[in-house]
Amino acid sequence: MRVHLYGNQLMLRAVTVFAFALFCIISFGHVEPAFGKDDGVTSIFSPLAQPAQEIKETSVLVLAVCTVIFIVVAGLLVYGLIRFRHRAGDEASEPPQVYGSNQIELAWTVLPILIVFVLILVTSRTIADIQNRKPPPGAVQATVVGHQWWWEIRYPELGIVTANELHVPASTGNSHQPTFLKLQSADVAHSFWVPQLAGKTDLIPNKENRMWIEPTIPGTYLGNCAEYCGTQHARMLIRVVVHPPDEFDRWAREQQQSAPIATTAVEGQKAFFANSCVNCHTIRGTSAQGKFGPDLTHLMNRETLGAGAVTNTPDNLRLWVRDPQKFKVGCLMPNMQLTDQEVNQIAAYLQTLK
Ligand code: CUA
Repeated sequence: MRVHLYGNQLMLRAVTVFAFALFCIISFGHVEPAFGKDDGVTSIFSPLAQPAQEIKETSVLVLAVCTVIFIVVAGLLVYGLIRFRHRAGDEASEPPQVYGSNQIELAWTVLPILIVFVLILVTSRTIADIQNRKPPPGAVQATVVGHQWWWEIRYPELGIVTANELHVPASTGNSHQPTFLKLQSADVAHSFWVPQLAGKTDLIPNKENRMWIEPTIPGTYLGNCAEYCGTQHARMLIRVVVHPPDEFDRWAREQQQSAPIATTAVEGQKAFFANSCVNCHTIRGTSAQGKFGPDLTHLMNRETLGAGAVTNTPDNLRLWVRDPQKFKVGCLMPNMQLTDQEVNQIAAYLQTLK
């Protein structure tokens, strides 16, 4: 008797846990605000671009089929547990054993095969659609290089190098302008993931992966590195800024310019070049040509510092220059032990990099 009751309770417990998990996934997975933007949604359930939409449609279909199977199986199980549970006065002997029903055995063999076959077809069609997409004329080409813990972004055809914010044009009604990305890594494995735009693709050392995105709605889309890559993996955020096409062209022209020549903050410029900043950072149009850290040529156009660690405000910039470890413990930019005066001067110089 105890055994039968236990089975019943276990089932109930399993159903409760499943329902709670489903509730959590649906409610919290949907509205998680991402850093720096209260309305920043990083949910795979609200895609706003290809291929994320196509992936979502496939996943909803798979999820629906699996849910129906789960409800049928769990329903039959619960029905069996309740209907045939042990009752007072039942005989203690084994119930009659039934073997070999051709119909039932055929049904539970053929039906799952058909279901799996349909799911394979739908999934492979989606994968092929996404992977075989060729860049149309006018597509933007960008290379994204994962570093511990920031993103280097290059547009070889446009001659632009930037960091942590990928700017792309939106596709409008009759002009398709997708962005094709080459993904590389400078150190360990990372993963590029902006849930509303596309699925994850890893950035692997010594291997080049590819992906593409085609957003249609201008705005800022948030994402993270999605492959554990060390201490500051959680602060390796990526922003994709989608512009209307003409605005993108304007952005590109601005980025192609070298850094403006400092007319103010000349002291800061001297301090920047006197310290070892130049060993790691490039400022185009100057002798700073370091490659280890982010290109700073147009630093002031970026919304955040340290790949999303903090918003790019004058105060945060000063604090960052004084000691980056304060915002991002373990990041590869050390505390340079600058004096207060040097910190203020260098921060003032960096603010001229518009
Ligand atoms: Cu880069 Cu995790």
